[in-house]
Amino acid sequence: MNNKLIPLSVPNISGNEWEYVKDCLDTGWISSAGGFVGKFEEMVADYVGAKFGVATVNGTCALHISLQLSGVKRNDYVIIPNITFVATANSVKYTGADPILIDVDLNNWQMNLDLLEEFLTKETYGNLKGDCILKDDGRCIRVIMPVHVQGNMTDMDRLIRIADQHNLLIIEDAAEALGTTYKSKHSGTFGLMGCFSFNGNKIISTGGGGVIVSDDELLAKKAKHITTTAKVDPMSYYHDEIGYNYRMVNVLAAIGVAQMEVLDSFVRRKKEIGAFYKEHLSGVGDIGFQTVLDDVDHNNWLFTIKTSHQTELLKHLNDNKIISRPFWMPMNKLPMYKDCLYVVTGSDACEELLKTCLAIPCSTSITDDELERVVVEIKNALY
Ligand SMILES: Cc1ncc(COP(=O)(O)O)c(C=O)c1O
Repeated sequence: MNNKLIPLSVPNISGNEWEYVKDCLDTGWISSAGGFVGKFEEMVADYVGAKFGVATVNGTCALHISLQLSGVKRNDYVIIPNITFVATANSVKYTGADPILIDVDLNNWQMNLDLLEEFLTKETYGNLKGDCILKDDGRCIRVIMPVHVQGNMTDMDRLIRIADQHNLLIIEDAAEALGTTYKSKHSGTFGLMGCFSFNGNKIISTGGGGVIVSDDELLAKKAKHITTTAKVDPMSYYHDEIGYNYRMVNVLAAIGVAQMEVLDSFVRRKKEIGAFYKEHLSGVGDIGFQTVLDDVDHNNWLFTIKTSHQTELLKHLNDNKIISRPFWMPMNKLPMYKDCLYVVTGSDACEELLKTCLAIPCSTSITDDELERVVVEIKNALY
């Protein structure tokens, strides 16, 4: 059997990327000005059904700016799930706030809403201004940041209800979930702002990049302003606040425009890959999958399986040039976040997922033969 390396999840450059990048190079519009940035922002916003989009250097700074603009300040709290990529927690710390970590649901791997609700009901109160205050230390919780882990989504109606009851804003970390919908509404459009990432392993990639989406014109304008050094007019160097140089450059936006043109076919391919693995791996050893609510149409971003044979399987696949990786390290296991408040009861789902989950190759460019090779090697390792 062919022994070529099968990567985990890599960019698929097969559309107009070369042509659009060449246009940037030919015209000299390679930097922060140029038509592709606005076009990319518009395409992402239109695709998800948001009114505005603001392109950024990466998804992490999209999260940082969204939190800052939602009013998160030093010593506040932001609620996040304990399993996520570290950027979610880091973006909270950039604002001077601290994350409160919530264990995830063992079935769908999203923030555990029972735990979230119980925690907010028992451990917080609303002050006279209506702020949600942690009883323990009197500090304010401002935002819930759901992370659509692996591109899946939780029960958003319930999450919104919980957030409303406690006067909390929602900022979505939709980095992994472009193309996923809940009740036909796109991820990223449920809260005040939603953030996407376009790094190399995402469903579409600009190499590095992010977009903030929002329906709030003022917030979108502020996001654009603060991510472009808060410069007030094109001529003079007058900046009216401490801004950030977080803008996406035109060359990368050009790649993004080409990628957006084929996003529908990428989502289709990811779903085919997910369906193939589910069909051929169901009943193999003790392999299990992330559950998906009926209301969720999942983009199948990073196909991940769960098995008690994680260690052997990871070794066997990687030895056979089939790149596979364990799940995100839970935030409470990282030195910077080990002392954060972690809401968990009984058995720790993040701990269990850390020990049992592994992501397997699912690039949109993977061939059917390669998919079969992955399945064969998983069976070889388990039997
Ligand atoms: C859940 C999550 N949040 C945030 C990010 C950060 O995005 P970026 O790498 O574009 O900064 C990523 C991806 O890398 C992610 O998977």
